[in-house]
Amino acid sequence: MRTARTALTLAALLFVATVALTTIGRLGAQSSTTFIRPGSFDEVIQTTSTELFRSGQQIFRFDTFGDERFWSDTLRLHQAVAGAANGGVGTGVSPAAALAAGLKVDVDMVPQAILAGIQSGAVNLNDPANTLALINARAVIGVMPAGNGRVGFTCALCHSNVDNSFAPGVGSRLDGWPNRDLNVGAIIAMAPDLSSVASLLQVDQATVRNVLTSWGPGKFDAELFLDGKAFRPDGKTAATLIPPAYGLAGVNMHTYTGWGSVPYWNAFVANLEMHGSGVFYDPRLNDAAKFPVAARAGFGNVRQANASDDGITSRLPALQYYQLSIPAPAAPAGSFVQRSADPGQALFNGRARCSTCHVPPLFTEPGWGMHTAEEIGIDDFQARRSPDNRYRTTPLKGAWSRAKGGYYHDGRFANLRAVVEHYNGVFGLRLTETEMNDLVEYLKSL
Ligand code: HEC
Ligand code: HEC
Repeated sequence: MRTARTALTLAALLFVATVALTTIGRLGAQSSTTFIRPGSFDEVIQTTSTELFRSGQQIFRFDTFGDERFWSDTLRLHQAVAGAANGGVGTGVSPAAALAAGLKVDVDMVPQAILAGIQSGAVNLNDPANTLALINARAVIGVMPAGNGRVGFTCALCHSNVDNSFAPGVGSRLDGWPNRDLNVGAIIAMAPDLSSVASLLQVDQATVRNVLTSWGPGKFDAELFLDGKAFRPDGKTAATLIPPAYGLAGVNMHTYTGWGSVPYWNAFVANLEMHGSGVFYDPRLNDAAKFPVAARAGFGNVRQANASDDGITSRLPALQYYQLSIPAPAAPAGSFVQRSADPGQALFNGRARCSTCHVPPLFTEPGWGMHTAEEIGIDDFQARRSPDNRYRTTPLKGAWSRAKGGYYHDGRFANLRAVVEHYNGVFGLRLTETEMNDLVEYLKSL
């Protein structure tokens, strides 16, 4: 009896001691990772991290870098959106038409009264005035009100989508997801005055409109304004798919043809494509044989008269930080067959040789992930429109979420199966039907 009680007490004591020790251990581990001494440099780092993220998100979503001076003051695109009834020109763009052109609406930014009106049918989705109301509420993703009825564009226009939780095209934001519904060319083509683009390209406005409307949904041609090439030798549009802006952390080369790093391309786009007001330097664009338009226009060295007119350079750190924070979305449960994906993974890393270029877990090469067209068995048209004449190994994470528009820079492969069949032929892999299917299931799981 006595010994039993002693044993029990001992056991209880041991238990208490173990719990205490574990707690102390946990506290110790905690203090070395998350405790930040007030006034320390650790605290400076922590504050900077929070601030870069916060302001980067605002810039990505809402900053036009002053590009309304181009889209509205010069091209007068805002007038086409408003329509004659609202002081603009033409019939205007109704909310229904805006959604049909692939524009997305952030449901969390739509004023409650309008939201209720949409639900009850009281808000007329065929009236351009309601598009203006949504724009003024900053609810149309990537389209910003810029004073006096003007509009400007932000990065989110092309690089965000919504989850369609309210209605098709209306939902919560999905930053980084490429908008493969957006018909950028058709939207720009509505601008009443495209003379500045026409003179840049040394063609007439009708030709500019013809080129813009040839792009189709989900595509944009960033290189058109450098080399003036609108169509490929096979007659198809030279535009490329809008790529994701998620899953960029750890990746060195960006764009389909590896123009440079994330901050390189961010500065490029904000200055040369969105026509924001900033500074940009890249003497590679002075090559008049390769980039006749850029060389003529002096795109290789863009400056502002006053430092205070540069609305881009100061935004680059936070913008990059935010982009690097956006992960590639994980494949939804049940969207792929696990027992096929497992052998698919083995093939990917083994006999199919995919991982020699798509190195897990980045799924592109650490280092300089650039390849000739020949290495991947396609034509070199788009590669030759870039400084290195090569294609960059695309990071594959989240590939399932960008199926719309197809795969490869121009969407030439309608689905992942077509990509695998391509490699099977080019690399002479001799994959069986089951093996190709396994590889596809693995790609869907990334
Ligand atoms: C009109 C649509 C459009 C807008 C607006 C736009 N982009 Fe892009 N973005 C593209 C297209 C198309 C490409 C592919 C270009 C290429 O490969 O030649 C691209 C490529 C990129 C890439 C490279 C991704 C990768 O790893 O390959 C990044 C990063 C990027 N954009 C960031 C931005 C940022 C930041 C902004 C705002 C400053 C922005 N984009 C505005 C269409 C757009
Ligand atoms: C020699 C390097 C190399 C090898 C080996 C390679 N790839 Fe690629 N992969 C690339 C490059 C470069 C691209 C970009 C092509 C483009 O956009 O035109 C690409 C693009 C892709 C894409 C399209 C991604 C997108 O979002 O558009 C998929 C999917 C893909 N590869 C899967 C594979 C699979 C599966 C294998 C193995 C059978 C493989 N790759 C082997 C270099 C390689």
